[in-house]
Order: sequence, then C-alpha cells, then structure tokens
Amino acid sequence: MLLPLSLLAAVPSFLFAQAQQQLSLDTVVDLDSSDLPSPPSFRLPSESNQLYVSVALCANSDSPPRFFVTNDTTFTQPGPGDVDDVSVFEVIVGSEGFGSWAGMLPSGGILAVQKGSTTTPFEVVVSATNATSEADYPYVGDTTSNQALIFSPAFSPAPINEPSYPNYTLPSANLSLPEPPSSPANYSLVFANTSSAVLQSLPRTTCAIRAIAEQRGRTGIDFLSANQSQGLWLKDPDGWRWQWFIGGLTPRTNYTAYTLQNGMLAASKPVNFVTKSASFNCPLIHNLPFCPSVSYAVPLAPPRPPATAHTASTIPSDIGDTIISIMANFTTTLTTLACGRDHYSPLVSCADCQQAYRTWLCAVTFPRCGETPASSSNTTTSTDSQAQVPLPALQNVKAGATPRNPVLPAFSSEYETLLPCLETCNAADRACPAFLGFKCPLPHFTAASSYGVGFVDSGDDGEVGGGTTGVAQDVYGNVWCNAG
Ligand SMILES: *[C@@H]1O[C@H](CO)[C@@H](O)[C@H](O)[C@H]1NC(C)=O
Ligand SMILES: *[C@@H]1O[C@H](CO)[C@@H](O)[C@H](O)[C@H]1NC(C)=O
Ligand SMILES: *[C@@H]1O[C@H](CO)[C@@H](O)[C@H](O)[C@H]1NC(C)=O
Ligand SMILES: *[C@@H]1O[C@H](CO)[C@@H](O)[C@H](O)[C@H]1NC(C)=O
Ligand SMILES: *[C@@H]1O[C@H](CO)[C@@H](O)[C@H](O)[C@H]1NC(C)=O
Ligand SMILES: *[C@@H]1O[C@H](CO)[C@@H](O)[C@H](O)[C@H]1NC(C)=O
Ligand SMILES: *[C@@H]1O[C@H](CO)[C@@H](O)[C@H](O)[C@H]1NC(C)=O
Ligand SMILES: *[C@@H]1O[C@H](CO)[C@@H](O)[C@H](O)[C@H]1NC(C)=O
Ligand SMILES: *[C@@H]1O[C@H](CO)[C@@H](O)[C@H](O)[C@H]1NC(C)=O
Ligand SMILES: *[C@@H]1O[C@H](CO)[C@@H](O)[C@H](O)[C@H]1NC(C)=O
Repeated sequence: MLLPLSLLAAVPSFLFAQAQQQLSLDTVVDLDSSDLPSPPSFRLPSESNQLYVSVALCANSDSPPRFFVTNDTTFTQPGPGDVDDVSVFEVIVGSEGFGSWAGMLPSGGILAVQKGSTTTPFEVVVSATNATSEADYPYVGDTTSNQALIFSPAFSPAPINEPSYPNYTLPSANLSLPEPPSSPANYSLVFANTSSAVLQSLPRTTCAIRAIAEQRGRTGIDFLSANQSQGLWLKDPDGWRWQWFIGGLTPRTNYTAYTLQNGMLAASKPVNFVTKSASFNCPLIHNLPFCPSVSYAVPLAPPRPPATAHTASTIPSDIGDTIISIMANFTTTLTTLACGRDHYSPLVSCADCQQAYRTWLCAVTFPRCGETPASSSNTTTSTDSQAQVPLPALQNVKAGATPRNPVLPAFSSEYETLLPCLETCNAADRACPAFLGFKCPLPHFTAASSYGVGFVDSGDDGEVGGGTTGVAQDVYGNVWCNAG
C-alpha cells in the first residue's frame, strides 16, 4: 500500500527538525557555547555497561556553560531545575576545568548544555572509561644546562613472564627490551618557562593547553608530539613511556611540563624541571638496554657530535661489557639456588633479586652529576616550606679522581655527584637471598659517605619510609639522591 504523500513528506522532515546530534562512543567533540545546535543537547548512546560523560573547558571563562545528563529520554532538554540525582544529573566542572559523570544508560540518554553569558569553547566525550581521570605525572629524567630528558606517564606495563621451575630462565645479563606495544597511547609534551605564567592560568585540560601551545613562538610554549620523541622506553616495570630529549633550554631556569594524551580531556598534572648552571658539563646518558633505568647526567666526556647525549652506542664499549659481565656472573651465582623451587622468601623471587641488583649496579656504576640548588630561590617571595627543603646528597669529586667503579674513566674536571639513595641498595639486599652476601652499609655508620641516607626511609635500621622527603625526587624539580 502506498503511504499518503503528505505523510511521506511531513514525517521525515519533522523528525529531522527535532533530531539531536548523537554522540558516538570515544569520539571527542569540540564545541563552542556560542555555536550550539538547537536545542543545545545531544543524544547519548545506549549501553549496558557503565558510561562516563566527560566535559572540559578549553579556555578560562567568567561564565562557563553547565552540563546536564539524563538517562530518562522523556526529557529533551534537562536543566538545573530538573536535577534530582536519580535520573537527571549535573556534570560538575571542577576548579581545574573538567568534570565527569558516570552512570547507567541502558536506553540511552541526553546531554544538555546550558550556555553561560561568555563564549567558551569546550569538549565532550562519552566513553567506557573516565576521560578526566588523574593521569600520573610525567617523569623528569634529568637536565643539563640546556637539555632535559622527560618521560610521559607509564601507560603499558611490560608483560610479566615470571619464570618457573624447572626451566627457570632469568632475563639475559645483556638485557634487551621486549617488543613495544603495537598501538601505544599517543602522548605529546608541552612545556614553558614556569615564570611566564601563561600555563598557570589555564584550565588543566588537553584542549586549553593544546590551543595555547599551538600558537608557539608567540607565547614561549613548546609542543612536542610523540613523533618528535626519542621513541618508547621501558624504564621500569611500571610500563612503557614516551621519551623526549629537549635541547636549547636556558641555564638555571625553572620549566613547567604537562603531557597530553589523545582521547583524554584532562592534561597530566604539571611537573617542574630546573636546568643546571651554564658551567655544568656532565652530558646526559640514556637508552642503555642493560641499564634501562639510567637516564641522567654522568661524568663522562661528551659524545662525539652530532650526538648530544650518550647512549649505548657512544660510551666506551668496555663499560657496557663490564656491567654485562658482572650481571652474568651474578646471575650464575644466583641460579645455583633452585630458583622457583627453593623459595628463600614468600615475597620475592630470583627474578626480583636480579632486577633490584641490576638497578643498584647501574646506579653505582654510573655516578650521577648534580648541582647545589641556587640559593637565590629565597629572593622571591620566600615561604617557610621553601626554607625547609633539605639539601641533596651531593659530594664534591676532584678532577681526575678514580670513580667508584673503575671501569669508568676519570672525569677531567671537578664535579658534584648526587649519591645513590641508600634505599636502592636496601631494595637489592631485601630482594636477594642471604647466601649471596650482598650487604649495604648501615645508616648510622659509613653509609652517608657513599649513599644518600634518610631521604626516602628514615635511616633508622630496617625502617621503611619516614624519610625527610619520602622520595628521591619530587615533582617540583628537587632531586635529593640517585634512585637509579
Ligand atoms: C538512571 O540512572 C540511575 C543511576 O545510575 C539509575 O538508578 C536508574 O535506574 C537509571 N534509570 C534508567 C531509566 O535507566
Ligand atoms: C574521574 O577521575 C577523576 C580523577 O581521578 C575523579 O575525580 C572523578 O570523580 C572521576 N569521575 C567519575 C565519574 O568517577
Ligand atoms: C625455557 O624457557 C625459555 C624462555 O622462557 C624458552 O625459550 C626455552 O625454550 C625453555 N626451555 C625448555 C627446555 O622448556
Ligand atoms: C598523535 O598525536 C599527534 C598530536 O595530536 C598527532 O599529530 C599524531 O598524528 C598522532 N599520532 C597517531 C599515531 O595517532
Ligand atoms: C623565564 O621567565 C623569567 C621571568 O619572567 C625571565 O626572567 C627569564 O628570562 C625567562 N627565561 C626564559 C628562558 O625565557
Ligand atoms: C607520526 O607517527 C605515525 C605513526 O607512526 C605516522 O603515521 C605519522 O605519519 C607520523 N606523523 C609525522 C608528522 O611524522
Ligand atoms: C649485547 O647485546 C647487543 C645487542 O643485542 C650486542 O650488540 C652487544 O654486543 C651485546 N654485548 C655483549 C657484551 O654481549
Ligand atoms: C665473571 O666470571 C668470570 C669467570 O669466573 C671471570 O673471568 C670474570 O672476571 C668475571 N667478571 C667480572 C666482571 O668479575
Ligand atoms: C637564602 O637563604 C640562605 C640560608 O637561609 C642565606 O644564607 C642566603 O643569604 C639567602 N639568599 C638570599 C639572596 O637572600
Ligand atoms: C619551580 O617553580 C615552581 C613554581 O613556582 C616551584 O614550586 C618549585 O619549587 C620550583 N622548583 C625549584 C627546584 O626551585
């Protein structure tokens, strides 16, 4: 039967007029409060699992838009008066410029926008995970006078293949990195002079920071995508990270850095890093497969140009060979124990021992260069907390002195070394079986001459935690000892 012509024409156009834009899962939508559809609302997909509706402001606003979600589709345009926290909810935008709602939308729902009096760009996304969750901090490897080595937050843990008896095979002494993840999270890095204040006043959202960073040059902000990084690195078991090597920085300058992850509306929390003085002359070293955690300045002659930092291919080959040989001999001795059958501890295994020993060996073999922090930090509006920042575990090393591991050549100039954290030694001591005879110096006796003591742990024998700083380095650019 033919439909009456009037119905054919009228019904579809009526539906189209009322049709709200549908938000698709995991698709970030950029919008502007001055250019919203009419009515200013969006249909949300129906999904049997919990969904998150996340929103982010892309600029500061005196009068930002407000966002309302309902899972009752009889509402077409829920607003403040409808909020009952049963079927109509407000997505609260926090002081950092983002917010999210999580709930069940078994038969879909509506996201309505109530615009404020000022024009504000914003982003929304509906997804199965929280797109405004607290990303971890980026990690600062180290700095020189004009370079920095910065890592994204860890995002993809290495697969754990705990060996088992009778075929208990430990990782090779000449460790090689496993295959990196095939579709890694896409991060970019944004950084600027901390005192330029341009980032401080922004919402901590991906879209706000990216928008400012893309006007680089004019604002003094630098933006580096994952493609402009040194690639992925598995620094520690926390997981893979992007690694950025930055050059051309200004000495003795405090910088602020954020990472932005594609698909996430909230930026990482900010970290500070401070470049060294112009006379600092230790180069950075990184990308050593046999010492994956080493990523700091070392007292070695600089690499031959065009290299601007040391990697496995630029250091004297006997350094790597010696570390690998020590690791190989250690592993041989360790596996005289029937690893995986004779348990020396309910908590740790031979694999943990080997890993902790490697971290310790690398931290003591490669001394870390440091620098006494500028005392000028109290010329600015000094606060009590700043005055209480403890001094790092620095020790002067004379030009030409024999290093702790004599495989390293002597450094031709005087420098300050940042001692390894005693905790890195204690971690190996705790993880390894007693018959190996691995011993760390006691905190109250000789330890302080060769280790940083009392920063992470209190320094009371056997006590874990309670140190003055609790960490080897913080997110404000202070570093107290070398964790390895
Ligand atoms: C709407 O969400 C609330 C809270 O998640 C839930 O209790 C309620 O059953 C949902 N209503 C519908 C129609 O799904
Ligand atoms: C999303 O993550 C943030 C930060 O961890 C948290 O404050 C917020 O409550 C989360 N949102 C939901 C809906 O759980
Ligand atoms: C022992 O394990 C290693 C690594 O897991 C594997 O390559 C090797 O084939 C195994 N050997 C035997 C005899 O199962
Ligand atoms: C990663 O993100 C950057 C910046 O947003 C983009 O240019 C690049 O194409 C993305 N790469 C991939 C593989 O998605
Ligand atoms: C950083 O900002 C401070 C204060 O505005 C300024 O003195 C300094 O020159 C700036 N450094 C760089 C590298 O732009
Ligand atoms: C970035 O990397 C992705 C994936 O490797 C590649 O497809 C893209 O072309 C690269 N973009 C640039 C600008 O190099
Ligand atoms: C360690 O492995 C790398 C790459 O697999 C190789 O080039 C190097 O010669 C090895 N070193 C030793 C001491 O075996
Ligand atoms: C490792 O053991 C072999 C054989 O006992 C020995 O020749 C070599 O010197 C040892 N390596 C180190 C670095 O001690
Ligand atoms: C900073 O503080 C230290 C110790 O509190 C003091 O000796 C120094 O004179 C101060 N520097 C300035 C520039 O005020
Ligand atoms: C860098 O600047 C930030 C923000 O002003 C400050 O909190 C931090 O203490 C500074 N870092 C250092 C090492 O001075």
